[in-house]
Amino acid sequence: MSAKKSRAVERLIETAVEAQKRAYCPYSRYPVGAAVLTETGRVFAGCNVENASYGLAMCAERAAIFHAVAGGHDAIAAVAVVGAAAKPCGACRQVMFEFSDKETELYLVDLNPSTGRRSTIKTTVFKLLPMAFDPLASGLLPQNPRNLLKRKPTGRGRSARARPRPRSRRK
Ligand code: THU
Repeated sequence: MSAKKSRAVERLIETAVEAQKRAYCPYSRYPVGAAVLTETGRVFAGCNVENASYGLAMCAERAAIFHAVAGGHDAIAAVAVVGAAAKPCGACRQVMFEFSDKETELYLVDLNPSTGRRSTIKTTVFKLLPMAFDPLASGLLPQNPRNLLKRKPTGRGRSARARPRPRSRRK
């Protein structure tokens, strides 16, 4: 890994560690922090946010992905998740997959808040979701959705603008 890349990953993990401190989890008392590194080098944070209506809880990973997408970045180079024995849930794996390619790295940081001890597993988003529901392979999206977005809506069926915008560089 280049020095530049390893600095970016360090920044990514530190952002997720800080986000974990902001988790709103009075019901589960299980704080999770996440951060997304975009292909353009930007970092976006997320934490879990729970609710008195339990089913409305949002995971840290999805919060971070949505934060990046809302900031105009939907090509993801790496994701970090911080928590006790942190592992993304199935829903988060599918949401991360939408904006990943097979190189997108995933850092799982097991952080014990009382001792400060950390251990990190490095894997990829694709490895954690074998036989994923792929928006491209499913035929739900054309092979090059970004080109389509530049076109004017045809007026027939769903308009190009109404389509979701996954990344175009998936291999
Ligand atoms: N949680 C996450 O934030 N990410 C995951 O991948 C697993 C679970 C949160 C949701 C809930 O606020 C708490 O952890 C307990 O499930």
